[in-house]
Amino acid sequence: MSAKEIARGAEAIVYETRIAGIKVILKLRNPKAYRVAELDMQLRSSRTKKEAKIMSRALAHGIRAPMLVGVGRASICMEKVDGKLMKDVRISARTAASAGALLGALHNAGISHGDFTPANIIIEGSGRLCIIDFGLSEITSGPEEKALDILLMKRQLAKRLYGGFTRAYARTASGSAETLRRLEGIEERGRYQSRALE
Ligand SMILES: Nc1ncnc2c1ncn2[C@@H]1O[C@H](COP(=O)(O)OP(=O)(O)O)[C@@H](O)[C@H]1O
Ligand SMILES: [Mg+2]
Repeated sequence: MSAKEIARGAEAIVYETRIAGIKVILKLRNPKAYRVAELDMQLRSSRTKKEAKIMSRALAHGIRAPMLVGVGRASICMEKVDGKLMKDVRISARTAASAGALLGALHNAGISHGDFTPANIIIEGSGRLCIIDFGLSEITSGPEEKALDILLMKRQLAKRLYGGFTRAYARTASGSAETLRRLEGIEERGRYQSRALE
């Protein structure tokens, strides 16, 4: 079996390979030499388990994410989703609104994504969005984590797209008013802190 490396992040290496002729993605958490070996294996294994668990929770809620094929101690095998990363295209108003609805659905499923950026969203041929990379996700219903998901995307989106993104989010997510208020609070804190540093 040959595997082609397609991405290498701080935590994981991502390969594309085939199982029985079907394209799959293998995400492997690599060992860290600076950690004690036993602890390193424990950490990689618990983070892998958590990522797979949250991914299947999203799938169970009808959210478009890669199908899980299998989970190893430090590896996740999943469907390869065809399409373009949102970060690599000129983002349309429709895509921005779809991203807002996607985030609302994740939050309704009790998931904060933790890295909700255009680098972790694949636009499939049909225009449908698929969310990937649950490596920093948490099961939560807290407004702070949810607000931080919105803030991360806000920082990546052009101003003209942000309104459509939040409107779609607000239509989809239950309790969105509280989350958006929390977001304002976080931004206010940020402005206050940067003034204090001047
Ligand atoms: N299921 C998938 N289908 C297609 N491409 C994927 C899939 N999972 C990951 N990738 C590709 O690999 C890259 C890194 O994967 P990701 O899960 O985001 O890892 P990291 O934690 O390193 O950011 C993604 O940006 C995407 O290009
Ligand atoms: Mg990623």
